[in-house]
Amino acid sequence: MSFTVAIDGPAAAGKGTISTAVAQYFGFAHLDTGLLYRAVGAKVLKGADALEAANALQPEDLTDPNLRTHAVAQAASQVAVKADVRDALIAFQRSFARRDGGAVLDGRDIGTVICPDAEAKLFVTASPARRAERRHAELLSRGEEISYDQVLADVVARDRRDSERATAPMIAAQDAQLIDTSDMSIDQAVAAAIRAVADARR
Ligand code: CDP
Repeated sequence: MSFTVAIDGPAAAGKGTISTAVAQYFGFAHLDTGLLYRAVGAKVLKGADALEAANALQPEDLTDPNLRTHAVAQAASQVAVKADVRDALIAFQRSFARRDGGAVLDGRDIGTVICPDAEAKLFVTASPARRAERRHAELLSRGEEISYDQVLADVVARDRRDSERATAPMIAAQDAQLIDTSDMSIDQAVAAAIRAVADARR
C-alpha cells in the first residue's frame, strides 16, 4: 500500500532532518527532491544544457557530495525556475511517491504540484535569520569559507526566486500543517512532524 508524506518549505528550515526522521520512524522511503535540482544545477555549472541534464539524470548523480555546496544550491534554484526542467522531473517523483510501503518527499512543490493527493502534508519554515545561522554552521562544518551575511543574503535571494517563479512556486498547500522551527530543538520539530503524520494515518 502507498502512503505519501509531502514536506515542503524554504532552505534550511529543517526539512531534511525532519524528513529523514519521519521516514525512519514509519519505515518509509525518502526522496530529497532538492537533490534532483541540485544535480541538474551541478551539471549546468559544468557547461551542460539544463533540460538535457534533467532528461539524462541517473540515480548515481544524486550521491555526489559536491551537491551540498553553496554554489550548487544557487545553480539549482536557477534551473528550478524552468518549466521544462521541472516537467522532466515529475514522473520520477510521482512514481517514487506511490511506491509500496510509504514515501516521504521533501521539496518546495510536493504538496501542491507533485503530490496534491498526499495523505499527509507539512510545511516546515523558520525565520530567515535562524535558517541562515543553521546553514552557515553547516557550510562551515563542511569546510566552506563563507560569511554569515553572505549566507543570509543568499537564503533571502533563493526564497524570493523560489516563491516568485511562475511555475510551481514555493507555497504552503491549503491543507498542509505548518511547523515553524525557529524556536524548536531538532527533537521538538521531529516530534511535531511525527505527530502530524500519525494523525493523518488514523
Ligand atoms: O537544502 P535546501 O533547502 O537549501 O535546498 P534544496 O531543498 O536542496 O533545494 C535546492 C533548490 O532546488 C531550491 O532552492 C529550489 O529552487 C529547488 N527545488 C525546487 O524548485 N523544487 C523542489 N521540489 C526542490 C528543490
